[in-house]
Amino acid sequence: MQKFKTLITGASQGIGAALAYEMSKRGSELFLVARSREKLERVADECKKLGSPVVKVSSYDLSDAKSWDAVASEAEAFDINVLINNAGYGLWGQFAEQGLDELYQNMRLNMDAVVTLTHRLIPQLKRAQPSYVLNVSSTTAYQALPTFAVYAASKSFVLSWSRAIHHELKRQGVSVTALVPGATDTGFIDRAGLQHAAEAAKKVSMSAESVARIGIDGMLRGRVEVVPGFINKLSAHAIPLLPKQLIEKAAASLYNKK
Ligand SMILES: NC(=O)c1ccc[n+]([C@@H]2O[C@H](COP(=O)([O-])OP(=O)(O)OC[C@H]3O[C@@H](n4cnc5c(N)ncnc54)[C@H](OP(=O)(O)O)[C@@H]3O)[C@@H](O)[C@H]2O)c1
Repeated sequence: MQKFKTLITGASQGIGAALAYEMSKRGSELFLVARSREKLERVADECKKLGSPVVKVSSYDLSDAKSWDAVASEAEAFDINVLINNAGYGLWGQFAEQGLDELYQNMRLNMDAVVTLTHRLIPQLKRAQPSYVLNVSSTTAYQALPTFAVYAASKSFVLSWSRAIHHELKRQGVSVTALVPGATDTGFIDRAGLQHAAEAAKKVSMSAESVARIGIDGMLRGRVEVVPGFINKLSAHAIPLLPKQLIEKAAASLYNKK
């Protein structure tokens, strides 16, 4: 059986912590990164109980470009063969009213950190093949989303880029998968400032545990794109068939304050 050594970003809570638990059940050694060391240590304790033999945690702000090389160097020293780019968040609001610094910080975390860590770690992943990359996108990737404009665009970027490099790297022993969750019960809604949509989201939310299990299964099977859950799959297939104007109007009314 293959032994895994996995770097997971944004592993202090939510989908990232659930991905860490899922990899622990498969006996993976773990290198967990997020800003909150205390929360990471709590997740690490749980991972050890679930079967992970080694759990290393490091606190980094991945929206700070200076952190990327340091994280990649630690991941090389840890000899990873699985890279999970999960850290990310959304910012709800009218684009013109959002602060540029806040948007740049969001774009650096959701896109630049993901591209840089992957680029920097490809030589390591080739050395450690067979190896895996799991990039967490979102079903917001499938349509433009008024009031969530930059977030949805950042997740479209992650999905498109991920699919492209899947084909480039698959013959080199590195399998790249995009995980495309829909609404998932985590701290995401609060961080995004989307509390007004919390009730509606709850009705269709999946648990972080189910998303993580389906994501890791898909990653290990070498899938290019994994959409967890029936409703999410259905909308992923239906959205490209419908008029964009209609979809964007419907999405806008879902996300807007009543
Ligand atoms: N929940 C959903 O409905 C949903 C749906 C589709 C896709 N997603 C995607 O799933 C991923 C995980 O989100 P989640 O739902 O699990 O949200 P969450 O509960 O808010 O978790 C976000 C994780 O990212 C970390 N993080 C945030 N800013 C960071 C930074 N600057 N540097 C390093 N780590 C940072 C957080 O840790 P610290 O705060 O300790 O840094 C936390 O561990 C994101 O990419 C999100 O876009 C979520």
